[in-house]
Amino acid sequence: MTDISSVARLSEPLKFAYWVPNVSGGLVVSTIEQRTGWDFEYNKKLARIAENSGFEYALTQTRYAASYGADKQHEATSFSLALLAATERLKVISAVHPGMWHPGVLAKYIITADHISNGRAAVNIVSGWLKAEFENFGLEWLEHDERYVRTEEFIRVLRGLWTEQEYSQSGKYYNITDFTLQPAPVDVPGRAHPEIFFGGNSTAAQATAGRVADWYFSNGKDLEGFKENIAGVVASAGEAHRGTPGALASLSSSHLPSPRFGLNGFVIARDSEKEARDTLREIVEKAHKPAVDGFRAAVQEAGASTKDGKGMWADSSFEDLVQYNDGFKTQLIGTPEQIAERIVEYKKIGVNLFLTGYLHFQEEVAAFGTDVLPIVRELEAGLARKHDVELDLSQTPAAKVEVAA
Ligand SMILES: Cc1cc2nc3c(=O)[nH]c(=O)nc-3n(C[C@H](O)[C@H](O)[C@H](O)COP(=O)(O)O)c2cc1C
Repeated sequence: MTDISSVARLSEPLKFAYWVPNVSGGLVVSTIEQRTGWDFEYNKKLARIAENSGFEYALTQTRYAASYGADKQHEATSFSLALLAATERLKVISAVHPGMWHPGVLAKYIITADHISNGRAAVNIVSGWLKAEFENFGLEWLEHDERYVRTEEFIRVLRGLWTEQEYSQSGKYYNITDFTLQPAPVDVPGRAHPEIFFGGNSTAAQATAGRVADWYFSNGKDLEGFKENIAGVVASAGEAHRGTPGALASLSSSHLPSPRFGLNGFVIARDSEKEARDTLREIVEKAHKPAVDGFRAAVQEAGASTKDGKGMWADSSFEDLVQYNDGFKTQLIGTPEQIAERIVEYKKIGVNLFLTGYLHFQEEVAAFGTDVLPIVRELEAGLARKHDVELDLSQTPAAKVEVAA
């Protein structure tokens, strides 16, 4: 049994997100059948299924060039905006690279998306690993930790422009003078501005997220592994004197609410554990080996290139890399009961949100809502009661009984 971490929030229901398949080839680098499309019509239907199945967020991927076989890609911010326009409640998190965008242009874009969607726009700031994407565009490829220096400045500019008038910031990468963006983002209770997610695993990533991110997003990890990441982010947030969640009155860095934690997991929910394990085995047996090996070579630019050699993909096996965000490591594989139990073990160590991937997105997102989510809620309610708190479901989207599949 897992101990309850001091950062676990037992009264807050877990949140669920799914990866938007806006790049071709699905989420596993394998020739196994994947009934997952990457086109807009497929994704529009998927987004509607997701918001009717208890999912609160969708996350797009930003990619400009083929890698591990994902040879066609739709651009993340425009795709996210279209999904926002096609849904009613889903929050869509758009992935963006600081090295590709000016933060003022992005801040303005997201404000417009926020108005179109009545306050549902969010961003995931990713510092990048695919060197060729930058170099072949003629953009500078910064050394690993320096990418995070730029990312931190980028996030400070975003937050500044979203919350202040006549905002100025001077730094190594960006210089903003007396800028006021009008309109401001939509005023949504409980949210100071469009939420800022941040994806990264290395020591530099954890430190940066601890100082400036609203949400720290990680690749898949086992329980012990993710505890380490949480500890790294919490230590950095503590040094930056970040406060308790809900402390939104002032947004100077010393009053930012503490970051929350999101973890990637590839879900294989089947009627029996054996069936789920057999599916995993088939995914790995049918892996596209040259693509996985090519991917392994490209990701050496991530955590493996740092001084301490820690970070994303630094300790990934061949099997792990078949799901290119280490989604098997989280082990959301088995019956709905087993998966729900595993999810709640992660809640105990401090996970607030699960980012999920599937083989057959439309069918399996709907099935997650009907088969797994109700068990998660039951287990969460029991866990809360055991510790004398109530699970507060008042703000949580419930799965609708009739899912339009
Ligand atoms: C949840 C999540 C989503 C990510 N999405 C993207 C993406 O869409 N595009 C991209 O180039 N990198 C993406 N990344 C990778 C980051 O850019 C970064 O290269 C990676 O996290 C390596 O970080 P590290 O070197 O600090 O370990 C994502 C990372 C995470 C954890």
